[in-house]
Amino acid sequence: MAKRIISTEVVEEDKKIENSLRPLMLDDYIGQEKVKNNLKIYMDAAKERRDVLDHVLLFGPPGLGKTTLAGIIANEMGVNLKITAGPAIEKPGDMAAILNNLQPGDVLFIDEIHRLNRQVEELLYPAMEDFAIDIVIGKGATAKSLRLDLPKFTLVGATTRAGMLTAPLRDRFGVVNRLEYYKESELTDIIKRSAAVLNVEIDEDGARELAKRSRGTPRLANRFLKRVRDFAQIRYDNVITKEVADMALNLLEVDAMGLDHIDREILRAMIEKFHGRPVGIDTVATTIGEDSDTIEEVYEPYLVQTGLILRTPRGRVASEMAYKHLGLPVPENIL
Ligand code: ADE
Repeated sequence: MAKRIISTEVVEEDKKIENSLRPLMLDDYIGQEKVKNNLKIYMDAAKERRDVLDHVLLFGPPGLGKTTLAGIIANEMGVNLKITAGPAIEKPGDMAAILNNLQPGDVLFIDEIHRLNRQVEELLYPAMEDFAIDIVIGKGATAKSLRLDLPKFTLVGATTRAGMLTAPLRDRFGVVNRLEYYKESELTDIIKRSAAVLNVEIDEDGARELAKRSRGTPRLANRFLKRVRDFAQIRYDNVITKEVADMALNLLEVDAMGLDHIDREILRAMIEKFHGRPVGIDTVATTIGEDSDTIEEVYEPYLVQTGLILRTPRGRVASEMAYKHLGLPVPENIL
């Protein structure tokens, strides 16, 4: 049997490439105009006051540039960036150590901030509000609480699930921004920029084809670009044209709308197994053997955005467009 080519080496290589393609300053960042305009004003104002930027919450589907923006904020403010993630911080002591090691003005980026545990999250409240933490020393009757002052810093929190943040945490962010899926023209520009960084030639139609099939997501666009580049290198004259992009993406089982086999399985399960009746995410997840959080955070948002899935009060249903896209007959009583 053929070996699957998903190895940690490939993942590591992807990460390195992803990092090398990240823009470092706001002017090089394509798209998300509202977020950029907002951040620019707040950063300029903070710099003028010689103050730190207020805490920033970024939310939206994965791969749209939350980590990239945290890096840009640190670069624009001329400070260090410390990166961690909600599930990585297990104990309040871990969080206290991270906070205590910050330099004045630093940006602390916490990815998947909705997955912080409760005690760790509670330690963050005074840290965000008063730049101080309360540490308990000793146990029982002799326990003493000690207030430790921290340098002023900027917390950049990222989440795919804004709805899962507790109100006290959400309310402590002065700047809240939602990242949107990128337009095709923006993704085309990102792909052209990335191709230049990777030193690979791509024509306008090639870039547009990749953009069309990247689900509005730069992380996917850059990943596909890298795969298509290999094709161009081995089979064609090192130039990515529409034809090369088309061939490579078909081989990767990415269809004309950018859906992969899991997207299609989700739609097919909704149509064939549940005959188009409204279903819940957990039911779909069990049917296709995927994790329901992954479906909800990674796959469903794009399927809803494109109108392939409709959310109704009774559950999700596949739309007429979904039937047509899969080449299935459209039932008469469809919503
Ligand atoms: N690479 C990944 N995301 C990008 C963006 N928004 N702008 C420019 N290059 C990118």
